[in-house]
Formats: sequence, structure tokens, C-alpha cells
Amino acid sequence: MEFVKFAVCGLWMVAVCGDVVVDKAEAPVPLVIWHGMGDSCCNPLSMGGIKKLVEQQIPGIYVLSLKIGDNIVQDMENSFFLNVNKQVDIVCDQLAKDPNLQQGYNSMGFSQGGQFLRAVAQRCPSPPMKNLISVGGQQQGVFGFPRCPGESSHLCDWIRKVLNVGAYTRAIQEYLVQAEYWHDPLNEEEYRNGSIFLADINQERGVNESYKRNLQALNKFVMVKFLKDSMVDPSDSEWFGFYKPGQDKETITLQESSLYSEDRLGLREMDKAGKLVFLAADGDHLQFSVEWFNEKILPFLR
Ligand SMILES: *[C@@H]1O[C@H](CO)[C@@H](O)[C@H](O)[C@H]1NC(C)=O
Ligand SMILES: *[C@@H]1O[C@H](CO)[C@@H](O)[C@H](O)[C@H]1NC(C)=O
Repeated sequence: MEFVKFAVCGLWMVAVCGDVVVDKAEAPVPLVIWHGMGDSCCNPLSMGGIKKLVEQQIPGIYVLSLKIGDNIVQDMENSFFLNVNKQVDIVCDQLAKDPNLQQGYNSMGFSQGGQFLRAVAQRCPSPPMKNLISVGGQQQGVFGFPRCPGESSHLCDWIRKVLNVGAYTRAIQEYLVQAEYWHDPLNEEEYRNGSIFLADINQERGVNESYKRNLQALNKFVMVKFLKDSMVDPSDSEWFGFYKPGQDKETITLQESSLYSEDRLGLREMDKAGKLVFLAADGDHLQFSVEWFNEKILPFLR
């Protein structure tokens, strides 16, 4: 077969042959990246660097680093102040219109981008997401921001105060991203009732069968936890664990949770089918080496 193609190419125009030889089915699976809190699509020291790294390792890959808003400043501000449900709508719309993604794509979310991309998987089955990689994502939310990335620390102090006043009041839910995945284990019922984003995608108010079906359509759901994470409380959330309800000292794993035993989101079934991958990185939040990335993450992007 290869010989036939080659022979035909020898006789016909090179331009035509280019199309024949580069079989579309063999092109690398595109990658969609969603940055974390206080970050933006294109910072060369963060997402821009990751994009470049992936492009070097997988020649010809199409990498889309999501920008929420018209420019980088808006993109960063929106990571604090644009309702996550709206952000997910914007992204779904963007992915649906992108001609490069129509055959499917892998996705990789950093920090809060990890749970946001899971919402995309659950709400927007087309185009299809193949692998979902959550790098330090807080799949069961957070109950504290012990430390904030770099220049955003004044914002974090303010956010912490606001969340303590009333994370689940309607006004705060509508406008503060971090409130939308604030998970108060001392007040699980308030969380279940009031969280407009995380409680919804985690099926806390009932089971949306399409969420379950869409998530189960993934090939792999990879979750990376940072073993020395000082920014996420509790860091167990990065593997879908959390505080045991009613207190904030003892944590339980995903497998010990009612979400799993009742299988409201289909995660138990995915686990049994080998679709859940739990990876550990031995650093603080989002700290990893290129070698670690190449060894642990790249196989899921090929
Ligand atoms: C389930 O989720 C889909 C996708 O977001 C939504 O359109 C639908 O209304 C939801 N169904 C229920 C019963 O909430
Ligand atoms: C949660 O919602 C239910 C049903 O609407 C209500 O009965 C209950 O009082 C609410 N609980 C809290 C803590 O808001």
C-alpha cells in the first residue's frame, strides 16, 4: 500500500501527494489547555511554555490554549470574576466552531482549569473529548486558599474574606469563580443547595444522566496530585477525595465517598474499567520537571 502511494506520487504532482501521504487519521490528536487562577492563555512562563513543550514533543500537533475574553488582561480577570457556567458555555461554543477539533481532542486543565474542563466533558459531548488530564485540579472543590500564586496574593486575601462572609449567597456565587467551587464540609447542605457550579457537575442535587454518559465517553480521566501542595486545601481534592462530611480534619478518598459508592457520576464504573488514572508529582502546586511531564503526561497526549 505504501509502495502504491509512493509510486503514484512519483508520477503525479507533489502537492496532491502531500494530501495523500499525510493521512488525516494519523495526524496527532489536538490538545486543548485551560489555565489556572490568575494565569492566562499565553504567558511564556506558564501555558505558553507548556504549549511550546508539547509542540516540540509531538510535531504537527494543534494546541489551543484557551483565552477567556478579548485579551490577556481580561483572560486573567475572568479567572476570578466570570461565572464559571458562562465560561464553560463560551468554551463549548469555541470548541464546537474550531475546525481543527472536529475529530476529537485531548484536554489538559491546570489547577481550576482541571475541574472546568471536566464540566466541558460532561456538558458538551461534541466535538468529543478523548483524554482529560487534570493537573492539580480541585475535583471536589476547596475549603481554603492557603497560598495564592505570585502577583495575585492581595486578591486572594480579599477572596478569602468574601468566602468567609457567605460563599453560597446568590450574589457571591454569580460573580466569584472561587465561590463556585468552594466546598464547606461543615455545611454540606448549604454547599449542595448553594454551589451553582461544583455541586451541579458533581451531581449533588440529583443525577443528570447525560453528565454521566458524557464523562464515561472519555478514554482516560487522568488526575495529577501534587504531594507537597501548599495551595489547595485539601490536596486530596486533586484525586477527587475530600474532607469527610461534617468536619475538616480527616479526609476520605474518592473510593470511600458516597459519590463513588452510589456511582452518581459513573466514576466507579470508570475506575473498574481502568479509565481513571491517578498520578502523583513530588512538588508544590503545579511544580514539575520537563522530564516528569514527558514521562508521565505525554503518553496520554499521543
Ligand atoms: C443535564 O445537563 C445538560 C447539559 O448541561 C442540560 O442541558 C440538561 O438540562 C440537564 N438535565 C437536567 C435534568 O438537569
Ligand atoms: C436546602 O434546600 C432544601 C430544599 O429546598 C431546604 O429544605 C433546606 O432547608 C436547604 N438547606 C439549607 C441549609 O439551605
